[in-house]
Amino acid sequence: MLMAYKPRDYYAKKAKQEKYPARSVYKLKEADQKYRLLRRGQKVLDLGAAPGSWSKYALEKVGKTGLVVGVDLNPVKVSAPNFVFFQADIFELSPEELCEKTGVSVFDAVLSDMAPKTTGDRSGDHFRSVHLAERALEIAEKVLKPGGVFLVKVFEGEAFPRFVEEVKKRLGPVKRFRPKSTRSESREIFVLARRES
Ligand SMILES: C[S@@+](CC[C@H](N)C(=O)[O-])C[C@H]1O[C@@H](n2cnc3c(N)ncnc32)[C@H](O)[C@@H]1O
Repeated sequence: MLMAYKPRDYYAKKAKQEKYPARSVYKLKEADQKYRLLRRGQKVLDLGAAPGSWSKYALEKVGKTGLVVGVDLNPVKVSAPNFVFFQADIFELSPEELCEKTGVSVFDAVLSDMAPKTTGDRSGDHFRSVHLAERALEIAEKVLKPGGVFLVKVFEGEAFPRFVEEVKKRLGPVKRFRPKSTRSESREIFVLARRES
């Protein structure tokens, strides 16, 4: 049987050339260029960090004086003196434990690119994604400093408007962002908020 020819994805190729572990780096890069999220010296919490492209990009942006803390169920392909990684389930790692183990009491940015393993059941995948996003919000509420940035990925669906309202209520005004590098068939969208002082 003849296999259909599938050209390699532009962003996957670019990520390989630029030595990032995943194409998802261009979503964060675009958000950062548009909204100026990350700066030198900052402390960044990266939830759902594996294989590590967001953490790698964040490390480049915060520089040697900054710190990046990553959490994921899976291991990452990133190592740096100012990178701390927890291989853990985000539901089993408390914000207090995170702060205690890293010696950081507040972060300048909480990023979440967490996603459930997709099953093909759109509704189920959506609710699992919202569940992860809610956990990210819960953590951000505890550890994000006033003026700090919260960026979270969600698969759109019926619970999305309620989640956006929750972010507004707990942190502040919200922007919705769909990066150019998001695959056309994907229902992912990013929610961005800056914590009000
Ligand atoms: C799209 S990938 C993240 C890619 C990453 N931002 C990068 O640029 O390399 C989503 C990640 O969410 C993680 N994840 C899903 N559920 C999680 C959970 N309960 N706790 C921690 N990480 C989780 C997955 O293991 C997966 O690595």
